[in-house]
Amino acid sequence: MSPEAEARALDAADPGHRELFDIPTASEGRYREVAYFAGNSLGLRPKATRTELLEDLDSWAALGVEGHLEGERPWLPYHELLTGPAARLVGALPSETVAMNSLTVNLHLLMVSFYRPTASRYRILIEDSAFPSDSYAVQSQARFHGYDDAVVRLTPRPGEHTLRTADVVDRLGDDVALVLLGGVNYLTGELMDIPAITAAGQRAGAVVGWDLAHAVGNVPLQLHEWGVDFAAWCSYKYLNSGPGSLAGAFVHERHLGGDRPRFEGWWSTDAATRFEMAPESRPPASADAWQVSNPPIFSLSPVRTSLEIFDRIGIGVLRERSLRLTAYLEKLLADVPLQVITPTDPARRGAQLSLRIEGALTAGELSKRLRFEYGVIADAREPDVLRLAPVPLYSTYHDCWRAAAALAEVIAG
Ligand SMILES: Cc1ncc(COP(=O)(O)O)c(C=O)c1O
Repeated sequence: MSPEAEARALDAADPGHRELFDIPTASEGRYREVAYFAGNSLGLRPKATRTELLEDLDSWAALGVEGHLEGERPWLPYHELLTGPAARLVGALPSETVAMNSLTVNLHLLMVSFYRPTASRYRILIEDSAFPSDSYAVQSQARFHGYDDAVVRLTPRPGEHTLRTADVVDRLGDDVALVLLGGVNYLTGELMDIPAITAAGQRAGAVVGWDLAHAVGNVPLQLHEWGVDFAAWCSYKYLNSGPGSLAGAFVHERHLGGDRPRFEGWWSTDAATRFEMAPESRPPASADAWQVSNPPIFSLSPVRTSLEIFDRIGIGVLRERSLRLTAYLEKLLADVPLQVITPTDPARRGAQLSLRIEGALTAGELSKRLRFEYGVIADAREPDVLRLAPVPLYSTYHDCWRAAAALAEVIAG
């Protein structure tokens, strides 16, 4: 059997849920559809999103302001439809999660509550390869509190690409107020040991928060059980909710209902008494208390549709297929002269494999050739990292074969 036929046979045996998604058409190459590996950047659109978003838009047309309380999915309690599925996806209690804002906004709102520096304990640990928005967010929070030298950037050991758990744990100490790391690193695809780092950080007296942009919908999470203090994630990557779509936040039960400072608005107060229009808020003992404004329903709608897909299929089932697909891609890439910088241990990575590009082409040039000559969509981080994410909901073994074959041809020149 040819390698391509082998990939087709694997797809027949382990098909995923591609039929639920709109797959972009390839303008170039031998195949009608693109081989899409950028779901770690922007996930594809579920077919149901269009139908269900139109239903919500039509409620507005039909009901006007009455849509707040009437129609199939009234807008006032709309965000609550997302709470159960989101909680199940991240391993949280429903009271611990909320869908709101964008990711960096949520990180800021959570740091208002959880970064409480003192003269002796004010440092923030992040990865040196943190997504820039996180770097800017922690730097600006520290400056807001009057600290210019608070941020400690953790780098891998010489010759290594990813952080070991010990690299984080060894830097903990009585000067660290906050540890804020990516659950899955955006650049290398490394899955951090969230429970071990959370426990070690808290033993050292720090608060531990996680940016789960690349982890949610990618790997199973147990935020409640792991005792994570807080977390935030976006929903446009593995959660397939559309560009810039609404984000999520988690606050552990032990921090709910307490007197931690929070920034508030009318959506922070208890929904049951909100319309009494009282001058003082009465926040509920739930993550909803971190809400500020009333949410944009037509952005919540695609998140709800997507979370229902995850709820129906289950992140455990998706992770199993993800492990098989990523291992298959890794096996095919072994024959291509490129260095994979993602950990080789499947327990330390999600769906993404990051490749270091050496030679004449930059990552950007390489990704353009893959797209325009082969219909393979990969994500370039200039100058030298190409990221490929086989997404278990819709990617195929044949996509993996196409990516590896195209890379081999381009690299061979
Ligand atoms: C790890 C990580 N953090 C933060 C962000 C910024 O997200 P937003 O623009 O939704 O605030 C991104 C965006 O891709 C990201 O990958």
